[in-house]
Amino acid sequence: MGDALRVALAGLGTVGGGVIRLLDANRDLITRRAGRPIEIVAVSARDRTKDRGVDLSRFAWVDDTAALASHPDADVVVELIGGSDGPALTLARTALDAGRGFVTANKAMLAHHGLELAQKAEASNAALKFEAAVAGGIPVIKGLREGAAANAIARVYGILNGTCNFILSKMEAEGRDFAEVLAEAQALGYAEADPSFDIDGVDAAHKLSILAAIAFGTQPAFGDVAIAGVRHVLAADIAQAASLGYRVRLVGVAEEGPHGLFQRVHPHLVPLDHPLAHVTGSTNAVVAEGNFVGRLLFQGAGAGDGPTASAVVADLIDIARGEYGASFAMPAHELTAATKADSGERRGRAYLRFTVQDKVGVLAEIAAAMRDAGVSIESLIQRGEAADGGVMIAIVTHEGPERAVAQALERLRGSQSLVGQPLLMHILG
Ligand code: HSE
Repeated sequence: MGDALRVALAGLGTVGGGVIRLLDANRDLITRRAGRPIEIVAVSARDRTKDRGVDLSRFAWVDDTAALASHPDADVVVELIGGSDGPALTLARTALDAGRGFVTANKAMLAHHGLELAQKAEASNAALKFEAAVAGGIPVIKGLREGAAANAIARVYGILNGTCNFILSKMEAEGRDFAEVLAEAQALGYAEADPSFDIDGVDAAHKLSILAAIAFGTQPAFGDVAIAGVRHVLAADIAQAASLGYRVRLVGVAEEGPHGLFQRVHPHLVPLDHPLAHVTGSTNAVVAEGNFVGRLLFQGAGAGDGPTASAVVADLIDIARGEYGASFAMPAHELTAATKADSGERRGRAYLRFTVQDKVGVLAEIAAAMRDAGVSIESLIQRGEAADGGVMIAIVTHEGPERAVAQALERLRGSQSLVGQPLLMHILG
């Protein structure tokens, strides 16, 4: 049995507590699998007095989180503080510069600074591992980085935010509108007090940019992700989608093509015969399409103390075994700067919903905008029950260039006939 891998833990929230409980509960099994014990030696968090339901007296308490990076008894730092910059980034930089292993669940930091951190890890031959940063307990990083490493990946996509999926599932099941379901999710503790990163698609975009880097060998390019969240989806859209044979899901898609790397997080209509349509509640799921392995589906809990701690400790076990390779599946200098693909070049089908004034000529105006932009309409449904005294018009397009749909919407921008903004949802193909 080798010497213990000694861990300094920064952040004692839900996941930090979960890591301590997991290491306690599965100590013997983990020791046998890792070939050596994994022991927390020091911890740091904002509030020392808070009762976290775990015995912290056996660990050294460090007031200054940054000091964990140079703690004399630690081999590895686990960062569970969060935030793209600030203390988490300082800790990452100093730990990696000092040659310490670094394990993090911080997708925002990796999306913004992943390349720099991977370079630092390589320069000092330290481990940088982040299984918990994408889709919580699902081993999708390991799956892509190792299991699918022999494949060229054409596309990686999935449901990457449990809060949005929980809200959309509940809206569908209960026919209720977004604001009402969000308020309930917050009261139950499923959604953050400030839920904007989740519901506006930013959290999913952080995760997508990490997956894309691993799948395509590109530098993480969060700034190139086109993002739209779920706050403008109505219960009526979900009902309309259901009547057409679809479910509404917030899907992140990354795809490499002749025009570059395309990355988008957007509400989609997912056909009922697609596995993502059956991912409900706060579950996450990721699909990767490899040229030899075919379609892989990873599914499981995307958040929570147990699943996220499972991912963090799996990384620690890899480090304890000495099994860690390049963070993004290839050396940092091999990661290319991706060219951002123009979405206008893509082809697809779309769902468009307009709320309009119920007056003569409105339908003709919308139809004319579609015609002039070259958008072919597959179906059009008008319902007289939208809010604001308007009526709802839902259009499903035939497959065509996305540029044409964008042009039609541009043409209708500011039209006096429209009440509020139209909603565009792509149809997952
Ligand atoms: N807030 C995330 C979600 C979990 O709702 O999926 C952590 O990434």
